[in-house]
Amino acid sequence: MKATWILQDGSAVTHDVAEGTSLMAAAVAKGVTGIVGECGGSLSCATCHVVVDPAWSARAGVAEGFEEDMLDVAEAPREETSRLSCQIKMRAELDGIVVRVPAA
Ligand code: FES
Repeated sequence: MKATWILQDGSAVTHDVAEGTSLMAAAVAKGVTGIVGECGGSLSCATCHVVVDPAWSARAGVAEGFEEDMLDVAEAPREETSRLSCQIKMRAELDGIVVRVPAA
């Protein structure tokens, strides 16, 4: 399965992401610029902030609960479809998902 990140400079990178792997873990493993994943996916850093392409947002779901709170303290201002990418796990219906790395 694949995911595409639109980087802060507007360029796009696409990488394979295994089922069950979070978009944060995949981005860190592949060195996607702007995704740090400092807390390792425990919802305590917000350095994995992405803005989900609106075409994918319904399938990716919306932030709820603590994720929702953490987005308020993310470095880049949150947007309508902002998510913490450690909370988006790859699955068949997300194959091809596009997310943007917001400018900090
Ligand atoms: S990696 Fe820290 S909140 Fe997602």
